Amino acid sequence: MSLEFEQFDKQFGARIQGLDENRVIDAQLVQELARGLSEHGVLLMRGEEISPKRLVELGNAFGELEILPEPDKRHPDHPEIFDLTNVRKDGNVVDFEEPQAVFLRGTERWHTDSSFREIPCLCTMLYAVEVPDSGGETQFANMYAALEQLPLDLRSVVQGKRLIHSYVFSRANNPGRMDPMSPEDEAQYPPVSHPWVRTHSDGRQSLYMGGHVSHVEGMDLDEGRELIEQVLAAATKPELIYEHQWMDYDLVIWDNRSTLHRLRPYDIASRRRVMRRITVAGNEPVS
Ligand code: OGA
Ligand code: MN
Repeated sequence: MSLEFEQFDKQFGARIQGLDENRVIDAQLVQELARGLSEHGVLLMRGEEISPKRLVELGNAFGELEILPEPDKRHPDHPEIFDLTNVRKDGNVVDFEEPQAVFLRGTERWHTDSSFREIPCLCTMLYAVEVPDSGGETQFANMYAALEQLPLDLRSVVQGKRLIHSYVFSRANNPGRMDPMSPEDEAQYPPVSHPWVRTHSDGRQSLYMGGHVSHVEGMDLDEGRELIEQVLAAATKPELIYEHQWMDYDLVIWDNRSTLHRLRPYDIASRRRVMRRITVAGNEPVS
């Protein structure tokens, strides 16, 4: 049986039907999912309990999985799973200012995952184990539509420009104090340069930017930052956004090549939000 994709409003995002736990993960399924992902940008699978093992299997079928830079957040049995949680290892919820909370709050900035890599990731899969009843939504913005609808004067300015993305930069600019990164780890993540307008393998173009960006290559710093803010504001206007309201057992897969996302604030120091994330490595440089 083929998968079905039920589109959300605004022609952005879709719900997947037909992928229950008995469905064998084979090449045909992955091809259908990959096509759905390119077409819709964000995919939702609702109400299926997914074990950590099955999550890793699903990710592996898509491609190699990234191991994230923050070793203390890796799932004990599956290092490919990133435990994205405000519950400490001692079982209590974090304090607002502690590094674990600061890290999570860092994802409240618009970004695309792992854009700081020379070959950034393809997609992220985020599975909800436990979510607060309000707050903690995730918003996604469609960067194909953002480029298409960008005012012409801005479009001509960004065309041909490159942005510098850096993990060390974005981590240092998190909204509070983080544990220091070792010099060896920092050396593993040197700044990289990617075109601001990305051309995908099917020829379509989108904006490619977000919170790991430190500056515009070859441009005065302040002038570049101002330009980034202007473009980001246009690229994340409400018409371009899908806001996901989580339910337990939701799996959301998003295309990091062509979307931005951000976490919406929630009462991080008292409500539990427990998610498992895997990140599928990219298979082509940004061009
Ligand atoms: C992330 C992220 C969003 C969320 O893990 O990179 O952006 O809703 N998470 O938790
Ligand atoms: Mn993210």
